[in-house]
Amino acid sequence: MKNDKQYLYFLTIPGNESLLKEEIRLSLPNLKFAYSCKGFCTFKNNGSPISLYELSRLNIIFALTYGETAAKITLKDVANEYHRLSSELKATINFHQTESIQQAMSKWIPEKQIECSGDLQIDFIRTDNDSVFIGRRELDPWNSPLLRRFSPIRNDIISRAYYKAADAFCMFPVNPGRHILELGCVPGGITQYLLENGHVVTGVDPAKANEVILSNPNFKFENIGVHDYRPPRNELIDTLISDMNLAPKIVLKECIRLSKNLPNLKQAFITCKINGEKMLQDLDRYKSLMQEMGFKTVHFVQLPYHRHEFLAYGILQSSRKNKT
Ligand SMILES: C[S@@+](CC[C@H](N)C(=O)[O-])C[C@H]1O[C@@H](n2cnc3c(N)ncnc32)[C@H](O)[C@@H]1O
Repeated sequence: MKNDKQYLYFLTIPGNESLLKEEIRLSLPNLKFAYSCKGFCTFKNNGSPISLYELSRLNIIFALTYGETAAKITLKDVANEYHRLSSELKATINFHQTESIQQAMSKWIPEKQIECSGDLQIDFIRTDNDSVFIGRRELDPWNSPLLRRFSPIRNDIISRAYYKAADAFCMFPVNPGRHILELGCVPGGITQYLLENGHVVTGVDPAKANEVILSNPNFKFENIGVHDYRPPRNELIDTLISDMNLAPKIVLKECIRLSKNLPNLKQAFITCKINGEKMLQDLDRYKSLMQEMGFKTVHFVQLPYHRHEFLAYGILQSSRKNKT
């Protein structure tokens, strides 16, 4: 941008722009909304400039990724700009909302995006018909969800929740061989992912589970509602997953109750349903409920396969680097 004011951009799940705006209003009051289109918002920073490093340390739940806007160009200039940046900068270049960008660049762009090992990321984001924002950011400590490349879509998955688990385990790596208690496991996409990845699963759900899952020897099904589930003190369970379509406060309270009988619980992945922007004011409460389960690190994040929900992740130790 030519003027000296800093503009920041945020990519979000299409449909969640107003949640993102409300989150920014509450958590970063110096940012004033500037522009938005599907899945993308920009804000002017009226406070002191935020460095790329500081930006990468912010925790914006409803942004898949975010950075500092560097320029706005037209589609026809994309190829030149891409060429210039890729020769001048040691950066990974990413394209978002991209079909037409890729068309415009088909003469230039290799099949794969340019990737390099540094932390600097350049984003090309197509907005309306003819404009493309160019932004820069640093990789964040959680590895910017959008950068992660997800498993190709398969046609044999039991439900799209399969990808919610794949995303979550990509961001918060988990070694195989965990003993997992999964609440709300029907029809079975998450269980399918867990079983394929070498875990042992106890699933709780009052609905009818998929036959493929039921026949797997590493799966035990408790066909009841969570409120009726009284687990024996279980020394083996180390991971709790919840994907129930119940209000987050109820889910978290049930998780606290169950965690008391899980002496080796190390981490939890809990889907929290969003019911409007007002729930943003409850996040501190959700955090303390996660802490009541004994988790030192709690992280809230919305991942690409989430819809009206986000993930509350908790882990016992303070470092996220150790696999568990
Ligand atoms: C979004 S679906 C879960 C999808 C599933 N995790 C998958 O991977 O396919 C929500 C599930 O929560 C379950 N559920 C709703 N109330 C529940 C309760 N009180 N106890 C346990 N499960 C419940 C529903 O039966 C439903 O199967």
